[in-house]
Amino acid sequence: MNSFSRATLRTARPIPVKPNTTQYSVVASRLRLAPHQFCRASSSSEHQRESNTGKSAIVTGSSRGIGKSIALRLATDGYDVCINDIGANAEGCMEVVEEIRAIGRKSCFAIADVSKRGEVANMIQTSVKELGPLSTMVANAGIAQVKALLDLTEQDFEHMLAVNVTGLHNCYAEAAKQMISQHDRTPDNPGKLIGAASIVAFKPFALLSHYSAKHNITVNAYAPGIVGTAMWEIIDSELAKKKGQPKGSMIKKYVHDSTALGRVSVPEDVSKLVSFLASSDSNFVTGQTQVVDGGIIYT
Ligand SMILES: NC(=O)c1ccc[n+]([C@@H]2O[C@H](COP(=O)([O-])OP(=O)(O)OC[C@H]3O[C@@H](n4cnc5c(N)ncnc54)[C@H](O)[C@@H]3O)[C@@H](O)[C@H]2O)c1
Repeated sequence: MNSFSRATLRTARPIPVKPNTTQYSVVASRLRLAPHQFCRASSSSEHQRESNTGKSAIVTGSSRGIGKSIALRLATDGYDVCINDIGANAEGCMEVVEEIRAIGRKSCFAIADVSKRGEVANMIQTSVKELGPLSTMVANAGIAQVKALLDLTEQDFEHMLAVNVTGLHNCYAEAAKQMISQHDRTPDNPGKLIGAASIVAFKPFALLSHYSAKHNITVNAYAPGIVGTAMWEIIDSELAKKKGQPKGSMIKKYVHDSTALGRVSVPEDVSKLVSFLASSDSNFVTGQTQVVDGGIIYT
């Protein structure tokens, strides 16, 4: 039984049926609620997205592709952004940092392998030192492997789990620890944990979101469809090899056969959704996985 129903039982007495504002204030005072907690009209300021200025975000795997688009979009939305990737993509990280500074926002980069907990903790400390308290973590880094079940080696499987599962957990857990230690999260200004999902692995993290919401941290995921990034170049060429088809034909076929809106997705389709998930407009959204695929999966 939640505290609202407990309070209702304790104070259960007939309430005049006349539907006027006095009735609501009597009920509100019996429940020891301030009038605005019981019922309130919305004001025009509540229809505006709050500014993100002064907030900072980390976007993992953001030297290219969807992560880069998210980082640039959040910077345009007012965030200072920490770019992350593995060492092999350090040059791409530096380029994105420069692009963000040109927008007029602060930026830095932290090389870290998200599958290593210690490296993730260091990345967060670098970001906090350079950009201030952490508001939003976008756990975007991920890998794809194009192999039939029986061809997957033990190492393939471990690597996939390490990056796509342990990596996400490391980013969520370390970011949540940091946000809780800051004591600056409120229901009107929650921390945001946002993760990359996929239409291929469409499932919510119900227990995690429940746990985190207690600390004024929302947890949501975005599930892209077929996005024309380096990842799909690999998927396309591997599938084409297996089927004896020319390079570039598989992505076209998949989009033609399965996407209602009939085009390959671009990273900006995804970063527009993440912009919403990282903004005040989504402060009451948690535990959701939002598909953004041009009409492949229908929820
Ligand atoms: N492209 C798609 O169609 C598609 C569809 C569904 C989901 N996704 C997901 O969206 C996310 C971004 O995909 P993308 O298409 O931009 O892929 P991408 O391969 O272009 O970019 C992924 C980035 O993550 C980085 N990365 C990989 N392992 C890492 C690690 N251990 N630590 C830190 N960084 C690491 C890579 O170096 C790369 O820069 C991924 O999680 C992917 O699974 C993509």
